[in-house]
Amino acid sequence: MLHPPFFDPNKTYAENWEQGPFNGFTDGVVFPETEPAYEFLGQKLSYPIGIPAGPLLNGKYVKAALDKGFAVPVHKTVRSRVRESNLWPNVLGADIPGDLTLEMAQKPIVVRNMYHEPLSITNSFGNPSYDPSVWMKDLADTIAYAKPGQLVMCSFEGTKWDGFSSEDYVNDWANGMHMLKDSGVKVVEANFSCPNEGAAQLLCFDVPKVRLVSEAIKNRIGDTPLVIKIAYFDEESLRVLVKEVGSVVDGFSAINTIPAPVVNPDGSQALPGEHRVKSGICGHAVKWAGLDMTRRLKKLREEFGMKYGIIGCGGVTIPEDFKEFRDAGADVVMTATGAMWNPHLAQEIRTKYPDA
Ligand SMILES: Cc1cc2nc3c(=O)[nH]c(=O)nc-3n(C[C@H](O)[C@H](O)[C@H](O)COP(=O)(O)O)c2cc1C
Repeated sequence: MLHPPFFDPNKTYAENWEQGPFNGFTDGVVFPETEPAYEFLGQKLSYPIGIPAGPLLNGKYVKAALDKGFAVPVHKTVRSRVRESNLWPNVLGADIPGDLTLEMAQKPIVVRNMYHEPLSITNSFGNPSYDPSVWMKDLADTIAYAKPGQLVMCSFEGTKWDGFSSEDYVNDWANGMHMLKDSGVKVVEANFSCPNEGAAQLLCFDVPKVRLVSEAIKNRIGDTPLVIKIAYFDEESLRVLVKEVGSVVDGFSAINTIPAPVVNPDGSQALPGEHRVKSGICGHAVKWAGLDMTRRLKKLREEFGMKYGIIGCGGVTIPEDFKEFRDAGADVVMTATGAMWNPHLAQEIRTKYPDA
């Protein structure tokens, strides 16, 4: 059942950042934490459920997620300098009755400010960021709020700022991830798969660069576990990626959204801005892709004798979806769209599957 969302699609990113979270995330009810009975990348967890980088814009959102039983909340992707958000609207409901296949994602998807089950949406922010002086303090404060068994993660994206050389760009990644570590983040995430910036190709598909950047980050952050967030890969490309970086990084988080052209019901471009013809689709319609990637990541881990952790996400909107991801091999399962429209989802999952 859809509840009023904790992120308000009618408001801008800045308004949500300043005024949110909303609705069920503000009822003051705190889910009693359970004993840490699980482990992920050396951290004890009360339960393997979280919210991936995105809907949790700042510490207020992350704390609310912790209170609602999402034991592994990931703070939305930040950068090393201030970056404006894409223009409003940033979230719209997507008219997709079943799965969004890769073939379907070539053709326009109708989006509008309406949300119904099965819930799929598009989101397009372009990874905005406040200044590190703001998010570092906020993160440290939020981490201090977490109880035993709760793990606050944060996502970072390196930027080729004006005048930057390729080397500066790699250093931006490494320095930024170190800023997360300095803020007290115990497991950091690198966003190699943002589809909403208009780049010709996602970083995650450039395997030599993924390796270069991942090694630079690891050299800088030492033994702090590094998770990389990736998009949907075909069979062979995933094998190549895992072979090349599966022993460099400590975990994979899959999937990010699936990009598709998004249009208004009259066929016109839905989101303002030349680079926003396409936008990432998430929610129920991409569940097949998240499950498929989770299964293959698990199989490849066994085949290559590797040890990386697997965060599975994409389309988890009801408790049974969580179970499917656990059965597919996810060490931790995350839900963005589903959690936004159901603040009680973690509690429902934890009640239905006390032993995940
Ligand atoms: C509102 C919103 C904002 C998002 N922003 C980010 C982000 O900043 N960084 C990131 O790596 N993924 C971002 N994502 C993608 C999610 O982390 C996730 O990979 C994707 O939504 C699929 O999960 P879902 O079907 O549960 O929503 C965002 C998703 C949503 C819904």
